[in-house]
Amino acid sequence: MIIFNDIKRLIDKEGDELKEVINNVLKSGRYAMGENVKNFEKEFAEYIGTSHAISLANGTDALEISLRAIGIGKNDSVITVANAGNYSSTAIHLVGAQPIYVDVDPITFNLDVEKLKSLEFNKKAPKALIITHLYGRLSDVITIREWCFKRNIKIIEDCAQSHGATIANKFAGNFSDLACFSFYPTKNLPALGDAGAIVTSDSYLAEKINSLRQYGWGEKYQVNIPGGRNSRMDEIQAAILRYRLKGLGERNSQRIKIAQYYSSNIKNPSISIPSIPCEGHVAHLYVIRTGSRPELQKFLLNNNVASDIHYPIPDHLQLKRMNSTSRTLAQTELLAKEILSIPCYPELSYSEVEYITSICNQWNN
Ligand SMILES: Cc1ncc(COP(=O)(O)O)c(C=O)c1O
Repeated sequence: MIIFNDIKRLIDKEGDELKEVINNVLKSGRYAMGENVKNFEKEFAEYIGTSHAISLANGTDALEISLRAIGIGKNDSVITVANAGNYSSTAIHLVGAQPIYVDVDPITFNLDVEKLKSLEFNKKAPKALIITHLYGRLSDVITIREWCFKRNIKIIEDCAQSHGATIANKFAGNFSDLACFSFYPTKNLPALGDAGAIVTSDSYLAEKINSLRQYGWGEKYQVNIPGGRNSRMDEIQAAILRYRLKGLGERNSQRIKIAQYYSSNIKNPSISIPSIPCEGHVAHLYVIRTGSRPELQKFLLNNNVASDIHYPIPDHLQLKRMNSTSRTLAQTELLAKEILSIPCYPELSYSEVEYITSICNQWNN
């Protein structure tokens, strides 16, 4: 069976090097907020090209803390998409705000800027927008930024699926007030458990986030701002991320090669392939479309190829959540019924990629 995302292969490949990274932390006697955390923050900010990176416990905390840092709370509304696993919706609800969902573009799977431009606000205008760069591809950040700037709407990028993705040679994370990362074990830059970060070039916001992640402290044990909590990255995750950051570019190139192979070689009239490769895409997921998804998924499984759905239920349909500003999200809802992710991770062998392609081509719907 080709596992959908066999993360153990990376660990096996890293072998003794990874063990040494972890052993060094064990020997150090410092397991939280030590040198690895400090250095990871410095190295990650340098890599992305921002002045600051603040490490956190996970990517959802990054979204929530970002919203708090820019002052989003009760009775506020935040624009976002509904096709990204409920992450931004969770954060928006946690701060007591309401999401305003915008439909997505069926080619890029990202926010549809024409739909954004047609939004009308009858009551209070939204205060923030979360741009999710889904599957490894940046949204049309330039147009979105311009639209938000004119309306005094703050922008948060969700880069959990786009470590190293670019537009005009600039990495995801450089197009907003605050940008959020997850380092969940399946991400392009993976930890060995939960971890996250916010990057920014705004020193005032960086300081505020630094406090919010540790109880609102300024000095130790002295609460300076409300709304704080504990969301620290631990030393072991920081050490692993420092080590893996060095290999991110190479692993992204490998993902892109796999995506390129699929895009050139999957030729089945019943399967639509995604618009990758395209500029700056880091192929976090390779998502195909078909009107007969259960049949294709079963055929793949019968031929020892695992697949997954990212994501089967749009956010506005979760928990029958009609308290959010409900609107028709035709593309989001259609995509949720047709999308299917096939294996795309750097440790897949050439023959496995070839095999998956041939199985896709053999499927006779
Ligand atoms: C697009 C997106 N946003 C946010 C998150 C949340 O990150 P985490 O699982 O680290 O909380 C994830 C990942 O799971 C994600 O894929």
